[in-house]
Amino acid sequence: MQIDACIFDLDGVIVDTADFHFIAWQKLARALGSDLSEEQNELLKGVSRRGSLERILKWAGKELTEEEIQHWMAVKNNWYLDMVSGMGPDDVLPGARSFVERLRTKGYKTAIGSSSKNTPGILKLVEMDDQFDAIVDGSMVKKGKPNPETFLLGAELMHVLPANTIVFEDALSGIKAAKAGGFVVIGVGDSPQLEGADLIIDSLKEIRIEEIRKQLDQLASKV
Ligand code: BG6
Ligand code: MG
Repeated sequence: MQIDACIFDLDGVIVDTADFHFIAWQKLARALGSDLSEEQNELLKGVSRRGSLERILKWAGKELTEEEIQHWMAVKNNWYLDMVSGMGPDDVLPGARSFVERLRTKGYKTAIGSSSKNTPGILKLVEMDDQFDAIVDGSMVKKGKPNPETFLLGAELMHVLPANTIVFEDALSGIKAAKAGGFVVIGVGDSPQLEGADLIIDSLKEIRIEEIRKQLDQLASKV
């Protein structure tokens, strides 16, 4: 296959913030008299702030007014920001920084496709804000993951075709979004939810784009 670009999800692929989101959502669920299990949290990964709160409320059998929804979204985000505020360049996940750097040296385009409205701030904290040709965050799309809009906008901004672009994702919603957009998708991590990906890797540590292309070509020739 021809690969022109790579789009990276942020939380759980480039930075280890997935646990901070979980801790903050669980605290919120408990504050509302409910709870949030790790299994439920898997279904929140990649989902927008509002979408996540709506799911938690549904699981808890609760309804809130619009004002209360706005209040709790702000509270959750403040808890989250408190946890990430101490992050720095060392908090990039193993291999992520060097993989992105190598891609760019080799002439591939790179982008971030994240549901998080905190994306610009987090990329600044870890000093990776200058490593991408396009950065799409939760404030730039009408429909979040699993809708493909996030990744389609990333491809459009890079002037590349989805079929020639690899998306790296750690969440079910993101894998569905990438597939729906016609991208090649690589699942990152060990979640059972990654099954729909074209290929699954443990992390970005020591991976090579040439090796990935080889494996994707082998898979394509088996179809
Ligand atoms: C995604 C995370 O990247 O962004 C979700 O996986 C999070 O857990 C979502 O809810 C929205 O993030 P934020 O930072 O805008 O609240
Ligand atoms: Mg993620």
